Amino acid sequence: MMTEKRKSMHGQWSSRWAFILAATGSAVGLGNIWRFPYITGENGGGAFLCIYVLCVLLVGIPIMMAEVMLGRRGRQTPINTMRTLAREEGRSEWWQCIGWIGIAAGFLVLTFYSVVAGWTLAYVGRAASGFFNNTTAEDTRVIFTQLISNPKSLLIWHTIFMALTMMVVSHGVTAGLERTVRFLMPTLFIILIVLVGYAMTTEKFVDGLVYLFTPDFTKISATGVFIALGQAFFSLSLGMGAIMIYGAYLPQKTSIASTSCIIAFIDTFIAILAGIAIFPIVFTYALEPSEGSGLIFKTLPIAFGQMPFGQLIGTLFFLLLVFAALTSAISLLEPTVTWLIESHGMSRIMATLSSGMFAWLIGIGCLLSLNVWAGSTLFGLTFFDIIEGFTTNVLLPLGGLLIAIFASWLMSHKSTTEELALGNSTLFSTWKITLQYIAPIFVVLIFLNAIGLLKFGS
Ligand code: TRP
Repeated sequence: MMTEKRKSMHGQWSSRWAFILAATGSAVGLGNIWRFPYITGENGGGAFLCIYVLCVLLVGIPIMMAEVMLGRRGRQTPINTMRTLAREEGRSEWWQCIGWIGIAAGFLVLTFYSVVAGWTLAYVGRAASGFFNNTTAEDTRVIFTQLISNPKSLLIWHTIFMALTMMVVSHGVTAGLERTVRFLMPTLFIILIVLVGYAMTTEKFVDGLVYLFTPDFTKISATGVFIALGQAFFSLSLGMGAIMIYGAYLPQKTSIASTSCIIAFIDTFIAILAGIAIFPIVFTYALEPSEGSGLIFKTLPIAFGQMPFGQLIGTLFFLLLVFAALTSAISLLEPTVTWLIESHGMSRIMATLSSGMFAWLIGIGCLLSLNVWAGSTLFGLTFFDIIEGFTTNVLLPLGGLLIAIFASWLMSHKSTTEELALGNSTLFSTWKITLQYIAPIFVVLIFLNAIGLLKFGS
């Protein structure tokens, strides 16, 4: 079959904006608003942000372009796309392992993602019932601890979130997603601006900004750099085929370079806004930047408890965050589901049910490790920490590395120029050189550094 005529069996986006919205929906989620502030706080602030932005520019954007390109050329689920493209380019079929790593990674990310989305769901109700009115830092700490130490309620919220994800995926992701994200993103953005406005009124607004924007490189460790790289992959939804599968539904004429830059820009901007909203609250109310994974749940309720219309704004915020998490979660499940449909002839409903239930089951392990199993650790890490760290910091960058190598070294010049349609411009050669040398060397150095084989930084 001619590449140009290959069509996806799962549908096509109605326009370039539909793709941008869907990919942004996948990228913007808990990674920006929950994970970015808390790991920035754990890794020293400004210097971490600096390295993070560098990772987005040098590794994230080129790999995103590569993923979209591979997806659109293959127009199937990542495993089958990679097998087809490897064959076409005369390469080993082993390259389909990119798809396999992706399925494993997406699946595992979904397990803990759904648990954290569950916390967000729980906070919708709390915000709506006025629970946070005039709440103090002490209260918010207690409220959060109470939630995560209660396995029953965590299970209920995790189950509701996973059921919602499965409902959307079973209907096919192109339907409805566009409309949801079109409404969701601007509203979420406005609420973040309101939160930044509140942060400006706090006593330690400037301290928060200084913390976030003044890089103090003595504060960053080798592990910090490693975590920044993982976060770039996590936040941009890279390295597991989620963006590849959305690329598979992309109309042939759309420019891959500009759409990728738009998505990466929006994603990074939203994460930074969340940081600006949160750190001034941390300092004003004598919380620690390194509070850990509860950071947003301990800080933002204080803001909602004090601002005018805080009850309404807080409810809306957590509700929108649930939706943002939902549009991300469906992109985590979609590769597994399309693979079950394409390769095992399952119906969409059966594929969604079986994979979703399985992720739900592993998610129960994650939520129990927050309380009942909190004592069972490996090298001081709980089951939750291990799944979160291994997928984000190891599996995603590994998948990304293989994608970079395949797209830049093993695909013919003809295929890549044809697909990216940048001609032989400087833009094209910059992309290619970054992907051939800079991104892989960066990733490998950071890996070696993290496992202590190579020492730079402290
Ligand atoms: N990027 C999403 C977030 O920031 C999470 C996510 C969705 C993801 N799809 C992914 C992470 C694929 C890694 C890979 O919340």
